[in-house]
Amino acid sequence: MNKNIIKKKIYIKTWGCQMNDHDSSIVANILTQTNDYVVTKSPEISDILILNTCSIREKAQEKLFHQLGRWKKLKQKKPSILIAVGGCVAVQEGENIYKRAKFINIIFGPQTLHKLPKLIKQSYKNNNLIIDIKTKSLKKFNHSINKKINQKFTSFVTIIEGCNKYCSFCIVPYTRGAETSRNQKDILLEINKLTKIGVREIILLGQNVNAYRTYDVINKKKYNFSDLLYSISEIPKIDRIRYITSHPMEFSDDIIEAYKYIPQLTNFLHLPVQSGSNKILKLMKRGYSIEDYENIINKLKSIRPKISISSDFIVGFPGENDHDFQKTLQFISKINFDTSYSFIYSKRPGTRAAKLIDNTPIEEKKNRLAILQKKIIQQSFQWRRRMLGTTQSVLVEGYIKNNTQNLYGRTENNRIVYFKGKNELIGKLVSLKITDINYHTYLKGNIDKNQ
Ligand code: SAH
Ligand code: F3S
Repeated sequence: MNKNIIKKKIYIKTWGCQMNDHDSSIVANILTQTNDYVVTKSPEISDILILNTCSIREKAQEKLFHQLGRWKKLKQKKPSILIAVGGCVAVQEGENIYKRAKFINIIFGPQTLHKLPKLIKQSYKNNNLIIDIKTKSLKKFNHSINKKINQKFTSFVTIIEGCNKYCSFCIVPYTRGAETSRNQKDILLEINKLTKIGVREIILLGQNVNAYRTYDVINKKKYNFSDLLYSISEIPKIDRIRYITSHPMEFSDDIIEAYKYIPQLTNFLHLPVQSGSNKILKLMKRGYSIEDYENIINKLKSIRPKISISSDFIVGFPGENDHDFQKTLQFISKINFDTSYSFIYSKRPGTRAAKLIDNTPIEEKKNRLAILQKKIIQQSFQWRRRMLGTTQSVLVEGYIKNNTQNLYGRTENNRIVYFKGKNELIGKLVSLKITDINYHTYLKGNIDKNQ
């Protein structure tokens, strides 16, 4: 008998950041490993529907109930469907979700997702609502996943969960809890395993990766983020190391110095500054000034002159006036950011900023966001233009769709390059001379004969 026939079908919908995407991969991995479940791409044919939510911005609750409304209809047709709601909104809202949507079965949190096989079994047995949101231990770390992104050569590896920074606008410390670092031995083991399935680039994941701290029992000393970077750099076959996200407050000199000794660290850094006004940074409780930030970048540039920097920005924070906004624009020019994620401030219940007076009209905020984004797009294009004629290190991902002549890969600053090359280059780093650029999409290159 085909075993698949008896497997329950699960459908997972995810909103939010890379951490949430990664959490959903862990959920899929944990459930399929039990051999009782198979992941599908369609809620209509599934037995279990899982919603992994995010509450970082906007009316997350409304979006949630909208989605649940659609699933309610499916459940009316097929009452045996089991619905589980997880992620940050689940932690924030807990039982309130059930009060408005009595047809759901399980509420779980980012820290309890590894318990899902048990919770699902329990739910089938008792048919009661199960809420399991908070836990102190991070057992989910034990469920490492050997999954490559898009079947390519890059993989995420979680190194730390939670956040202790309490930026005044942010909900994360309330939903994902305090910073908890994963044991370094497990991280290194996972990366070693990943190299065996072809992974060449890893992205270390955490709300605050540079807050990483554990203890080295063998050498009896503290072990921090830069120690971890050095350890990873010794793993053969890891050609590139990236991480998201780091915080300027703990971007210490030892991390900067690592850029001197670890060539695998890419010439690209995402370091969110949020605003170019010290007044606003103070209100945001970010713990650094724009001068501190600039200092970090200058030190990095003295080691890696070509490093490209990206950031997150919040516009329309309570108290931000036009003068503050102009300072942000000036700072964007000064640092010459390559890319950014930018958002209009969104009031999050329970955070400190929620108490601040916010009297900037939404139209004005939208206007500021449009100006900021236009500026960044222009700068980003200039970065792209300057790549013309240069030699770039590219990690080759494969052939372009429907094309057996041209390969493509990614530069350190995340630009896609098309080039002619042979099969054996897939999964390797090559040096490409950039011969053509266009505004929005890919670059073209040739294999650098001097490499
Ligand atoms: N430690 C992570 C934070 C994750 S949140 C980091 O530094 O990237 C990702 C981004 O969402 C933040 O950098 C911030 O720019 C944005 N953000 C967080 N809370 C927000 C809010 N209440 N309104 C608007 N943007 C917010
Ligand atoms: Fe949020 Fe600030 Fe932490 S943005 S995740 S509280 S560093």
